[in-house]
Amino acid sequence: MFTENRTLSIGILEIDQEHQALDNLVAKLERMVVSQSSKKDLQTAFQDVHKAMLSHFKTEENIFGPKIDELVKNHKVEHAWFLAEMKFLDAHMDHDYDVWRDKFFNLANKLTRHIIKFDMEIAHD
Ligand SMILES: [Fe+2]
Ligand SMILES: [Fe+2]
Repeated sequence: MFTENRTLSIGILEIDQEHQALDNLVAKLERMVVSQSSKKDLQTAFQDVHKAMLSHFKTEENIFGPKIDELVKNHKVEHAWFLAEMKFLDAHMDHDYDVWRDKFFNLANKLTRHIIKFDMEIAHD
């Protein structure tokens, strides 16, 4: 719906495809969280996001090489933040659902910002 105003494409096919796949999985999980799907289904969808994120960050770290390590830009540091947060969410699915839900939506929003702020920028460096 909003893609005419702004695209998340960074112009590198492999990364764009992975972003699209990751975004689809996150959007699916978001819809499941909102509709309060069963815990088992949520867990499965969560693991799909987690796996896609892990392999996507590896792809980026391979493609972008040492540029991604520049501490001043914090790109790799933010990847590490996402993975730590996913680990936390994974370990806390049994805890307070509202807290979990807020943390997950925060992560989903941050992922979109990450693509714009870090992935797009490094691709145009
Ligand atoms: Fe990315
Ligand atoms: Fe990234």
